Amino acid sequence: METEKVYLLSYVSTGCDNLNFTHIKDILSISCEYNKTHNITGILLYCNKHFFQIIEGPKDEVKSLFEKILIDSRHDNIIKIQEGYFCHRQFEKWQMAFKSYNCELKGLDNFNTQQFYNYINTNLNMDSCISNKVLADFFDLNG
Ligand SMILES: Cc1cc2nc3c(=O)[nH]c(=O)nc-3n(C[C@H](O)[C@H](O)[C@H](O)COP(=O)(O)O)c2cc1C
Repeated sequence: METEKVYLLSYVSTGCDNLNFTHIKDILSISCEYNKTHNITGILLYCNKHFFQIIEGPKDEVKSLFEKILIDSRHDNIIKIQEGYFCHRQFEKWQMAFKSYNCELKGLDNFNTQQFYNYINTNLNMDSCISNKVLADFFDLNG
């Protein structure tokens, strides 16, 4: 049924040259508030200047959030990986899960990788979502 579907969008991008702890803290803070109000969930990874993000929710909300993200000066080189309807929400527990692979940002991590890895492996059909494959490969490579 159309109403049960969730719209998913994922991308990679490059953090701006002076990106720091405060930038990411601010992004997570606004994400927590905005995403909750707009029924959006997802995950944001940061590794060596690169972001990978999956956002999911109602189509209009996902699209309008992405418009904001596209013009955000804290990153550039934004390359969309996937966009479209998916059969169910995958990150319903997270307004915006965050994991960093840079030690200076570790304090901002807000989920347990092993717990999440178990979750994606047991609950998701990995073949059906390229974004989850990217995510799983990312965890395989980086731990
Ligand atoms: C990599 C990255 C990811 C972001 N993810 C979100 C997000 O999930 N939710 C959100 O509200 N803002 C997110 N932002 C911040 C938005 O780009 C924007 O600053 C915020 O929505 C406030 O927009 P406004 O000033 O037009 O209200 C992200 C920014 C970056 C650089």
